[in-house]
Amino acid sequence: MKEKLIQRYSAAERINHWVVACFYPAFFWLTGIFGTPQLARIVHPFIGVVMFLGFARQFFRYYHHNFITDEDKKWMKAVGEVMKGNEVGDIGRYNGGQKGMFWLMVACTSLLLVTGVIAWRPYFAELFPIPLIRFALLVHASAALALIAGIVVHVYAAIWVKGTIRAMAEGVVTHAWAKKHHPKWYREMTGKES
Ligand code: HEM
Repeated sequence: MKEKLIQRYSAAERINHWVVACFYPAFFWLTGIFGTPQLARIVHPFIGVVMFLGFARQFFRYYHHNFITDEDKKWMKAVGEVMKGNEVGDIGRYNGGQKGMFWLMVACTSLLLVTGVIAWRPYFAELFPIPLIRFALLVHASAALALIAGIVVHVYAAIWVKGTIRAMAEGVVTHAWAKKHHPKWYREMTGKES
């Protein structure tokens, strides 16, 4: 029997997502490509700006899907049950975990941009006092750590929940996936009651 599918992401959305993922700030491997840590340091802020711009596009596409509702709070409180495979609450396009992750990404990428610009030699750093640059670097590193931890969870969850990678690879999910994990979104997309 042919699988029934629902479109979840357009080609443009998927390209946007994978551009952001490719520019995600796990930069140490750059030293292997560019030869020296110094060169990697010079290239890193430019790559960071590309990632920020790519994410900004995602922000404007998705922020309205990520406001946290009472159903999401129910989901968050019962996350242990969800991990056992039993979904909780009438979940829309994204669940409480995905929404929390979205706002973590927003906070971290914004902090990375602002503090990165303050610390960016030789272009902007000379405009700021040295104590501020040092503080900015501390915040920059902390935001990077939080984002890296977040992305590890994001990738793990995408692999863990069977059928999710397909949403970002092919743009589609099955009716069964939508019904199980995002029942409210399923009803909105299909007009079906169950
Ligand atoms: C190898 C790395 C990555 C993988 C495998 C991955 C996988 C996925 C998948 C499968 C989805 C669709 C989830 C769904 O529709 O239910 C998704 C959504 C998304 N991803 Fe990623 N991702 C990766 C890296 C990143 C990075 C680095 C960022 C940004 C810093 C990012 C930002 C997003 C955003 C904003 C969404 C939409 C979710 C929302 O609005 O709440 N992803 N990702």
